[in-house]
Amino acid sequence: MEDHPGGFDLLVVGGGVIGLSVAWRAARRGLRTAVADPAPASGASHAAAGMLAPVSEVTYTEEPLLRLGLASLSRWPSFAAELAADGGLDVDYRADGTLDVAFGSDDLAALEELAVFAGGLGLPAEHLTGRECRRLEPMLAPSVRGGLLAGGDAWVDPRKVTAGLLTALERLGGVLARSRVTGLETSAGAVTGVRLACGTTLGAHRVVLAAGAWSGTVDGFPPEALPPVRPVKGQIVRLRSPAPLLRRCVRGVVHGSSVYLVPRGDGELVVGATQEEMGFDTRVTAGGLWELLRDARELVPGVTELELADVVAGLRPGTPDNLPLIGPTNVPGLFLATGHHRGGVLLAPLTAALCLGEADGDLSAICSPLRFQEHR
Ligand code: GLY
Repeated sequence: MEDHPGGFDLLVVGGGVIGLSVAWRAARRGLRTAVADPAPASGASHAAAGMLAPVSEVTYTEEPLLRLGLASLSRWPSFAAELAADGGLDVDYRADGTLDVAFGSDDLAALEELAVFAGGLGLPAEHLTGRECRRLEPMLAPSVRGGLLAGGDAWVDPRKVTAGLLTALERLGGVLARSRVTGLETSAGAVTGVRLACGTTLGAHRVVLAAGAWSGTVDGFPPEALPPVRPVKGQIVRLRSPAPLLRRCVRGVVHGSSVYLVPRGDGELVVGATQEEMGFDTRVTAGGLWELLRDARELVPGVTELELADVVAGLRPGTPDNLPLIGPTNVPGLFLATGHHRGGVLLAPLTAALCLGEADGDLSAICSPLRFQEHR
């Protein structure tokens, strides 16, 4: 690796959608920026479906998370356009909403509550009969009895997002160190850089730990600064059809678990995702695949005709209160950008803005890592 005598203004540990977004925005502002990751864009960001769905993804009791999601969603159109300009890749940003469907009276009641909650916040959420749902999405099962159209929801292709971010970072002079971080360098308690497994030390005024589900296990960091994140496994399937089967994201609760289908313009249909507390296990299992296809078929029977293109498992970084950890820690110069659980892709633009001091102080307080560090 080349020498970087003056060091970096900002060094990000972790090259997933969060770390790369922070790094790209920093490089765009003229900061000398580096990312360290032995295999960038290969973890949860590679598995993710890319839903930007604060209304339909969030449990309606989680108002702070909803606020973060809405704030980030509003940043996505310009984030996607600027990324297309810097990274030379269209990330398939689409804003046609999510159709949340119900089969039984319990599901209908849950959607009714969500509609009231969303309506109270002035968010677009339209209640539909089963027939109206099928008019919007003709491939839906005849047993769908009703639905809720969250018209503000959107989605992107996360694999294109990370590919664009890597190109954009490189074009702006950012450095990608394809090596594992083995320690944090400090002087008088403040961060001065990181050590890499390849033997190099990279100097940096600020280090942002954005290693997703692995953020709590990074070697050589002060244990009191490591975040309380845990891996939450998600298995996800990609199917292929000659033409798109759906026009918008569709989701529903089948056999007690939530399943979603995300269509891409090229005919790909992403079906996700399991939620499993299995530690650092990224095996794709027959049971996981079976469950996803069984549930997807209940929503859209035609999925069984599609070609199986890809099955992967990713690890979401879960936190004890379901909120992300973004901002300074009690180690001067060390920041966190992790714990995004189910919302990494959605929250990427807001996370970058928070790390660079460009977002609302209220939102920053919601995400402060100090909430778990003060009493340590
Ligand atoms: N955001 C969808 C998931 O985590 O499954």
